[in-house]
Amino acid sequence: MIKLNKVSKTYRTDKVETLALKDIDLHVREGEFVAMMGPSGCGKSTLLNVIGLLDRPGQGSIEIGGAVLQRPGDRELARLRNETFGFIFQSFHLVPDLRVIDNVEVPLLYRRMSGAERRRLARAALEKVGLGARMDHYPNQLSGGQQQRVAIARAIVGQPKILLADEPTGNLDSKMGEEVMDILLKLNAEGTTVVMVTHDEQEARRTHRIVRVFDGQLVSPAGATGERVHAA
Ligand SMILES: Nc1ncnc2c1ncn2[C@@H]1O[C@H](COP(=O)(O)OP(=O)(O)O)[C@@H](O)[C@H]1O
Ligand SMILES: [Mg+2]
Repeated sequence: MIKLNKVSKTYRTDKVETLALKDIDLHVREGEFVAMMGPSGCGKSTLLNVIGLLDRPGQGSIEIGGAVLQRPGDRELARLRNETFGFIFQSFHLVPDLRVIDNVEVPLLYRRMSGAERRRLARAALEKVGLGARMDHYPNQLSGGQQQRVAIARAIVGQPKILLADEPTGNLDSKMGEEVMDILLKLNAEGTTVVMVTHDEQEARRTHRIVRVFDGQLVSPAGATGERVHAA
């Protein structure tokens, strides 16, 4: 489903050059739920952004769903990103002036679709995360856990094959975090491939496999070729 071959990424600013990713080989199979762990600054977000086509790798190649991406143009990249990936971030990234239902519809604005169809899909996504009754609320009228569930609804409304979550429970207390984790596990059980960055070992143990990142490199051999280990 996702294959990274020798992917490297360097950030350059006026004064410093940071090698954020070094020779990453990673294979995520269709239907897998992978947890990505590692200390702050080790390159987890960079790796997730490169996988999700938000950021281009410096060197190396990426295959998504069997297709090698050979220098795709910006429009092609945007289309592929929109159709393939759903993104969930630690700080939710909801638009405060939009009602919940309108937030969830945002990814569909880039598709050819009637307003009625958009609304129908957004409702279904909100019902899936247990927020069918909150559609007309504004984000600041919801708890953190509920806001993250809205963000999940927005991530899945376009029925992406792959969900990328960057510390989705990082701003939540443990009960709300567990609810978010339950939803991600449910979506995975229904067939969505999930890659999630987390600092929580307990959460990570509920996934199929943990990939450990250190200093821009994968330290777990399982990251490249490993066996699929099922959570108990
Ligand atoms: N846009 C950027 N410009 C310059 N350096 C960056 C940028 N984004 C990340 N970095 C650097 O790349 C390294 C990896 O960052 P990041 O992927 O955010 O790590 P993590 O998510 O594991 O905390 C860090 O040293 C960080 O400072
Ligand atoms: Mg990060």
